Amino acid sequence: MADDQRRVRIAILGAGTVGSQVARLLIEQKDDLAQRIGAIPEIVGIAVLDPDEAREDDLPRSLLTSDLGALVAEADIIVELMGGIEPARTVLLRALNGGKSVVTANKALLAAHGPEIYEAADAAGADLYFEAAVAGAIPLVRPVRESLAGDRVKKILGIVNGTTNYVLDEMTTKHLAYDVALKEAQELGYAEADPTADVEGYDAAAKAAILASLAFHMRVRLEDVYREGITEITPHDVAAAAESGHVIKLLAIAERTEAGVCVRVHPALVPLAHPLANVRGAFNAVFIEAEAAGELMFYGKGAGGLPTASAVLGDIVSVARHLAIGGKGPRESNYVDVPVLPLSAARTRFQMRLRVLDQPGVLAKVAAILGKHQVSIEAVRQPPRAAEAPFAHLVISTHEAVEADLDATVDEIRECDVVNAVLSVLRIEGE
Ligand code: HSE
Repeated sequence: MADDQRRVRIAILGAGTVGSQVARLLIEQKDDLAQRIGAIPEIVGIAVLDPDEAREDDLPRSLLTSDLGALVAEADIIVELMGGIEPARTVLLRALNGGKSVVTANKALLAAHGPEIYEAADAAGADLYFEAAVAGAIPLVRPVRESLAGDRVKKILGIVNGTTNYVLDEMTTKHLAYDVALKEAQELGYAEADPTADVEGYDAAAKAAILASLAFHMRVRLEDVYREGITEITPHDVAAAAESGHVIKLLAIAERTEAGVCVRVHPALVPLAHPLANVRGAFNAVFIEAEAAGELMFYGKGAGGLPTASAVLGDIVSVARHLAIGGKGPRESNYVDVPVLPLSAARTRFQMRLRVLDQPGVLAKVAAILGKHQVSIEAVRQPPRAAEAPFAHLVISTHEAVEADLDATVDEIRECDVVNAVLSVLRIEGE
């Protein structure tokens, strides 16, 4: 490598699970990366809260600093792996305004403040890359932003949260209760001590907002995303899903309809034959339907230091290449002006499980309520011996219906004198 070869100065902000792997790989693979970039990638510093604190990694201590401002000023590329909104937002805006390129894995920041950050990058003519923000190692942001730029994405169905997929998979394969599966996930390090962001669907909602914005060329904000988590899913729901040939998955769904776009995160029944049904453990997968391309599926590890570092390094190489040879990567486009629809306007299929009196005329009464609200029944099943006398269970699957109509249906069914309980209402996706 020639000594006079151009250097690209890189600041890494944060040295946690991802940051430490990014730094290690940049150091270990420097020569290879230099060949790919056409310039030598040089880490000018790694920002940590306390440079003197004992660490398990063997990153050169001389690179550690707590002086974020000085580090950012010295670098050409800022790699933000701190997470959280502040100080990340302020630091990145300042960096972009100063013309520096940014690589970030910070989905929460992009989902909450994306427009401001995208605009700052665009105004400064700087690169903003964030492949690791959605589904970790899986190449997804680039395919959606670049490879599919000539197509029209119709629908995205994604398992974009590994923690919840792990918990649901354990509930499915080992017949565990939610609490037991979650505890196991925490012991294995898949779930955080405070699992709220994952199990309540906030993490998936942030990723859904980012993906929908890219796929539909518009601004979808976090608050536009309807969100339900998996905390209410019971072993009975899982067993009933299996009986009807489904598996329960937490899905991030972004859909373009004639009326606008609808973006939502909720548990859903996925048919066993659908590719997403076979996504096991903590893996992520995203299924995309595009007008010309047809169906596409992206699969891989959505979290973890090393897999996520792969996506970050890919971004660093892209951005560094632009600095080395001139030019800039594509920005996200946001020219589409259609409404973001509330969930009540979405059209989905449902399966509801009811505990009803086991006597003549019950099915007719329930069916009449569905009919009254324009919800068409696709199938009714009465699982044998599922309930103690005088009750029976009914499992009703519907054709596609408007959410608002389904809500009204369920409200009325709850009040119906022959219905003892609405045991669950789950949407069906992927059929
Ligand atoms: N906590 C996320 C998950 C990974 O469980 O998939 C980071 O987005």
